[in-house]
Amino acid sequence: MNHNDTDRAPSTFHVKSFGCQMNVYDGERMAEMLGARGMTPAADGRDADLVVLNTCHIREKAVEKVYSDIGRMTREDGSRPMIAVAGCVAQAEGSEIQRRARNVDIVVGPQAYHRLPDLIDRAGRGEVAVDTDMPAASKFGALPARTKQSRPSAFLTIMEGCDKFCTYCVVPYTRGAEISRSWSAILDEAKALIDGGVKEITLLGQNVNAWLGIDGRGRAQGMDGLVRALADIAGLERIRYTTSHPNDMSDGLIDAHGEVEKLMPFLHLPVQSGNDRILKAMNRSHTVGDYLKIIDRVRAVRPDIALSGDFIVGFPGETDAEFEDTLRIVEQVRYAQCYSFKYSPRPGTPAATMDHQIPAAVMDERLARLQELLNNQQAAFNTATVGKTTDILLERRGRHAGQLIGKTPWLQSVHVTAPELALGDMVAVDIISAGPNSLAGQLSRRKAA
Ligand code: 5AD
Ligand code: SF4
Repeated sequence: MNHNDTDRAPSTFHVKSFGCQMNVYDGERMAEMLGARGMTPAADGRDADLVVLNTCHIREKAVEKVYSDIGRMTREDGSRPMIAVAGCVAQAEGSEIQRRARNVDIVVGPQAYHRLPDLIDRAGRGEVAVDTDMPAASKFGALPARTKQSRPSAFLTIMEGCDKFCTYCVVPYTRGAEISRSWSAILDEAKALIDGGVKEITLLGQNVNAWLGIDGRGRAQGMDGLVRALADIAGLERIRYTTSHPNDMSDGLIDAHGEVEKLMPFLHLPVQSGNDRILKAMNRSHTVGDYLKIIDRVRAVRPDIALSGDFIVGFPGETDAEFEDTLRIVEQVRYAQCYSFKYSPRPGTPAATMDHQIPAAVMDERLARLQELLNNQQAAFNTATVGKTTDILLERRGRHAGQLIGKTPWLQSVHVTAPELALGDMVAVDIISAGPNSLAGQLSRRKAA
């Protein structure tokens, strides 16, 4: 042990989350748990007695970032905080992490972080503190109830893990099998959040629309039933969910988009590639045609829905023509916003050892072409909202005095100057201008359309 603070229990902490929204959620739950234990948050990692790096393993770059962050933890006087590596790198690499970064005190996987207090005690005694178990009993039961939130929009994880085994993806290995949280646990957590001032809940899962459960009356329910039950809770104004898999887009969920007013008109539905041979090699178990049919059906019930997706360029063996098919599907769908990535071989996944890995320069060029198209679509989507009147939920403060930032139903950020308003207010604004990443609005005299 070479840091100063292990001799006594850490009293301040800093949680830094990388990667997906489920990690953000896990980070919040860890912070609440440490708070319930009497610890207080420190603004900056280096001032804290304990730093939790809640890591992402999805692409190689994300992993490198963690190791460079660990390296930067040493303070000017040579001391350093107690360091815990949580999240998917912890799960995938386990005690190997301590071989690569000797100053790591705790390694805790995404299914074991409810045991963090005990691991802190062990690390404080100078013991090995590694826990990457995937216990059968959910960690959620062991966590303290949700506390009052500082923002009106909150995440709520309703299911974890993934059974899909796309050939490029580490998630089924780091997050384990699909497990749905219970109906009552989800509704109780939602009510606690709403009682604490939350107006918008985003339901989370790697495959959130695969959620299954039994309601209070013993009936089998899917995500659509859950959405409808949440919509019945007074005080909750907006419901979102992410991420979805095309194969789990049930008729009921599509119908809910047409019927449940609180369900926002935004759907993140990744397709990854626009070519059937590549989709097969990715083990996506759907075709381009299946995907487009779903999009048509969703648009039929909710014509104004904003669509979002994820794309991977340079999957092993992807030819120029197959890549062009990805551009074609983007042109057909017309997305509001998307995420796109260069394929990154992940240890232990089938695609990592496939023949014909694509050279980096080819991937760079493909990604640039795809991103140009996606950026144009995003700009066009934003520009099309200029002149509209829409409700925004004020979620955070802007940089200028009196400036607040809220979200449209279509998940666009809107800057508005309204010193008289408070976070959590829902207000109608006229959209006056659009940039690539956000909109400007002014308070409206009209009601939102
Ligand atoms: N390489 C590049 N992108 C990946 N994703 C998942 N695994 C990889 C990988 N090995 C992308 C997918 C997924 C998103 C969360 O990350 O597009 O939908
Ligand atoms: Fe990964 Fe595919 Fe599961 Fe998404 S559906 S988490 S991409 S394996």
